[in-house]
Amino acid sequence: MAGGTDTPFTIPVSSRIQRLPPYLFARLNTLKAEKRRAGYDIIDLGMGNPIDPSPDFVVEKLAEAAHDARNHRYSASVGLFNLRREVALKYKRKYGVDLDPDKEVVVTIGSKEGFSHLMLAMLGTGDTVVVGDPAYPIHVYAVALAGGNVISVKLGNDEAFLERIEHVLRNLFPRPKLVILNYPHNPAAMTVEPLFYQQAVALARQYGVLLINDFAYGETCFDGYHAPSFLATPGAKEVGVEFSTMSKPYNMAGWRVGFCCGNSEMVRALSTIKGYYDYGHFAPIQIASILALRKGDDFVQAQSVVYQKRRDVLVAGLKKLGWEVETPRASMFVWAKVAPQHLAGDGTIDFALRLVEHAEVAVAPGRGFGDNGEGYVRIALVENELRIKQALRQMDAYLNGRKKHQRPSSLATAKGRTTEAATGDHPHI
Ligand SMILES: Cc1ncc(COP(=O)(O)O)c(C=O)c1O
Repeated sequence: MAGGTDTPFTIPVSSRIQRLPPYLFARLNTLKAEKRRAGYDIIDLGMGNPIDPSPDFVVEKLAEAAHDARNHRYSASVGLFNLRREVALKYKRKYGVDLDPDKEVVVTIGSKEGFSHLMLAMLGTGDTVVVGDPAYPIHVYAVALAGGNVISVKLGNDEAFLERIEHVLRNLFPRPKLVILNYPHNPAAMTVEPLFYQQAVALARQYGVLLINDFAYGETCFDGYHAPSFLATPGAKEVGVEFSTMSKPYNMAGWRVGFCCGNSEMVRALSTIKGYYDYGHFAPIQIASILALRKGDDFVQAQSVVYQKRRDVLVAGLKKLGWEVETPRASMFVWAKVAPQHLAGDGTIDFALRLVEHAEVAVAPGRGFGDNGEGYVRIALVENELRIKQALRQMDAYLNGRKKHQRPSSLATAKGRTTEAATGDHPHI
């Protein structure tokens, strides 16, 4: 053919994409998909994707607002004023924090989008960000995509962790620009008390570094624990912002609504980037979110109780398996150390692959969240209590060589089902 060549045509994607770290969950996701295609009912406790329904009254408001053609136009990229005002009211009601809805609140398309674009807004090539290890992967990927470099510091929730961060701030030149915090933590489910943030703010001021707290699990708390907001710390608004989300507390993960609140310069920088990149969220979603924030406190509380009950079932079962597990007081996860006899010399990625293959249970290998996650797995509370018990029986059968428990017929017939909704066994909210 004229002009033809034997050399394959190459697509040179940007160096931005090439500098992303390898995606360590890829093999696991492939195996899960293969097993499902082969008809296995994999009990998936790997993803932190809520399975319970969004509040009815919020869904109804969405439908009503969607019928109003005035809501079909482009919206505002920073979010509707009434939604930003409702976020400020909630911060005041729950945490005693004063926020100016015009300058200190921006609506994001989920907190993940907001976080990623804030990295783009704050970082230039070669800027450095301190991130705990293990970490929620986007805390690393978004920095890399924005051209920044990550310095990993062994995660903690105490003075020793802040001292490790201080060591980096004191010794690295040029000095890091941002420190990422995330309490209640994903994946480690660690929590903090207000004193931790006071010390973090003092550190930020001393070294001129900015703080970002990812507060995605701030309202998923158990046993009477109330996760403190970073923004309730005196001086926090001078040095940082906090991300929150509708995804977890309101079971609205697919709706993609999050918020970035706090320091007005950082909020403005994010708003500027968003002004160029998007036209704001579909207005009916924002209108329904206003109602959720205004009337959803009881719903959020009830959903936490659902997770707490699942946590109790899971922790008890893992202990019976012979694992060392701390009972988390917040988040959607149990971060469990795999018993050495079960790990059998493998890393957690291979262990998780074996668990899918032989026990038909998926968990997230700790190694996927960083070097310091090795030896642990993250188990998400995203199946109902019956299915969690079933998963534990299957793990026991495989790991401890016990007889496989007979599955209830409703589960035994399920082909490739992944959620309790699919089993027809709806959770109590
Ligand atoms: C720590 C953390 N931050 C942010 C997110 C993303 O939340 P959103 O749905 O608001 O983008 C998640 C989701 O799993 C998360 O675990």
